[in-house]
Amino acid sequence: MRIDSLSLKNWRNYSRLQLGFDRNLNIIAGANGQGKTNLLEAISYLANGRSFRTRNEDELVRFGEINLSAAATVKNRRGEYKVSISFSAPSRSKEISVNGVAVARSVFLGNFNTVLFTPGDLLMVKGPPQLRRRFVDEEIIKLFPVYEQQLGMYHQVLRQRNFLLKNIRFNKDKWSELSGWDEQLARLGASIMVRRRATIHRLGLLARLAHRRLSGGTEELDLGYLSSLPVREDAGEEETGNAMLLALRKSKEEELRLGQTLVGPHRDDLALRINGKEARIFASQGQLRTLVLALKLAELELLRAETGEYPVLLFDDVFSELDGRRRQMLLLALEGKVQTFVSGTEPEKIGRYNGTCSFFTVEGGEVIPTEPAV
Ligand SMILES: Nc1ncnc2c1ncn2[C@@H]1O[C@H](COP(=O)(O)OP(=O)(O)OP(=O)(O)O)[C@@H](O)[C@H]1O
Ligand SMILES: [Mg+2]
Repeated sequence: MRIDSLSLKNWRNYSRLQLGFDRNLNIIAGANGQGKTNLLEAISYLANGRSFRTRNEDELVRFGEINLSAAATVKNRRGEYKVSISFSAPSRSKEISVNGVAVARSVFLGNFNTVLFTPGDLLMVKGPPQLRRRFVDEEIIKLFPVYEQQLGMYHQVLRQRNFLLKNIRFNKDKWSELSGWDEQLARLGASIMVRRRATIHRLGLLARLAHRRLSGGTEELDLGYLSSLPVREDAGEEETGNAMLLALRKSKEEELRLGQTLVGPHRDDLALRINGKEARIFASQGQLRTLVLALKLAELELLRAETGEYPVLLFDDVFSELDGRRRQMLLLALEGKVQTFVSGTEPEKIGRYNGTCSFFTVEGGEVIPTEPAV
């Protein structure tokens, strides 16, 4: 899978842009604040239908303008497609289309995939569980776009149940309504938990292999699914749903006291361990980077296993932070297989690369194709 060309109108600090990319490696260099991340954000936007930086589309529109458009020609196993998104701020209307035909987000998502690695991802290991859940969920959405709706429904039911729990304190009659919500929550929750557990298991195997290579075989990474319910490893949806119902019943007193739901996938976590030790607590800066890189490579391999082709890989700023050995190993592993974008302020640190490569310099929202310096 690859992106051949990109065109932008009023996107962030780009007024108008028309660019063609190399099928292998694209290096985007430039000083701080010139538009490197904005460019990768546009590519990711055209894969995911939304920005990885904000949920507020208004922020994406160039200052002083009212609407934006972004489009790309992408190639995948099935053929060549034009994916495009336009957004108009005054009417808050957004249209996403494939080959000029407006489609739903769930249809749009199947055409073009990206895996992105930004400095913000490093927070995933040490930050709150929510960040690790999001990592797992986003991977699942790329594989099964309908999962996003299931997740949305679960959170809607969760909000209503929490609202009811708070209400019961003042109005005991409402008590009878609770069991209906329990059933729904358990059914929706079970399908999320089963999906997450299976994905974490598969990602875990792939991440362990990648991590072994990156650490020179000295460290073992393992991923685990931490659930708020006691349920067997290989439990299906029904068994998981029953376990959740039971757990909801057990924790009801406590839930009423606190006014919130205490069991379910909204309390899940992803455990990350290096040589058996919790990375969240013990990992050094270098280990963090290696771990997150291994997770991203696992994401890449999982997408390939499921879709039959590699997604496009976007490295924002993080590449030059890796040491020389890891950079070289990574370039060799990706060469000729994965279309890769690397942005940074110090492009000379990229390393040796034998495949084809395009080099761009970004300055104040203008992109200048330059002679390769690697
Ligand atoms: N909606 C917008 N309209 C115009 N300019 C914007 C908009 N949103 C962000 N910018 C500008 O884009 C610039 C930042 O671009 P970007 O984040 O891509 O920089 P960068 O090259 O990645 O820098 P760094 O190396 O610091 O990460 C900032 O100067 C910011 O003010
Ligand atoms: Mg940046």
